[in-house]
Amino acid sequence: MPASAAEQLLDHYDCHARSLPWRSMPGDAPPEPYHVWLSEVMLQQTTVATVKPRFRRFIERWPTVEALAAAPDEEVLHEWAGLGYYARARNLIACARTVAARGDFPRTESELRKLPGLGDYTAAAVAAIAFGERAIVVDTNVARVIARVYGLRKPLAEARKEIRELADRMTPDRRPGDFAQAMMDLGATICRPRNPGCGNCPLASGCMARDSGTPESFPAPKAK
Ligand code: ADE
Repeated sequence: MPASAAEQLLDHYDCHARSLPWRSMPGDAPPEPYHVWLSEVMLQQTTVATVKPRFRRFIERWPTVEALAAAPDEEVLHEWAGLGYYARARNLIACARTVAARGDFPRTESELRKLPGLGDYTAAAVAAIAFGERAIVVDTNVARVIARVYGLRKPLAEARKEIRELADRMTPDRRPGDFAQAMMDLGATICRPRNPGCGNCPLASGCMARDSGTPESFPAPKAK
């Protein structure tokens, strides 16, 4: 992938970023770390469409991480209903209380990783989006985009290390949070699992899957 590909993707994002309630749009002030964290935890197992109204309700009810930390467990668990496992809501409460007790969110991926409920993906996403750290953010959508650009045919589960190395190479020093979100948007809206919209893709030139004529066949389905 040419070095300018990240720039092409960012230019595309500047015009086409999805407007999402937890997102600050290109050119705006950085988003609230509390909003970024809450949305990423909600999005771990739930779709963007489902999360949107639930996120809005949550931050209306608890506008700050301190407010969430002070809420009774039962109220938070009740508000969480339908958003996935209770263990995640329990971690959410524990994390809010840790952050409120220390005064703010830690600003680096490695410190964020120590908070309850923050795995590799979430820590990297919050570090990049909220704090501008050049963290490597790879979810399933991002992994598929990378597999296609670089023509990796293996099932994703077998290509994890390679994909991470390629993601590291692609990630720019400038605007790493926007880059991560641009890759996620691309995977969700253009580089879809089925019927990818290569005609509208800012990474189409030089994409090996597209050049092959059968972009859908990358990556290979899960080995049985
Ligand atoms: N999926 C998970 N996090 C996301 C984000 N910040 N933007 C778009 N899709 C996402």
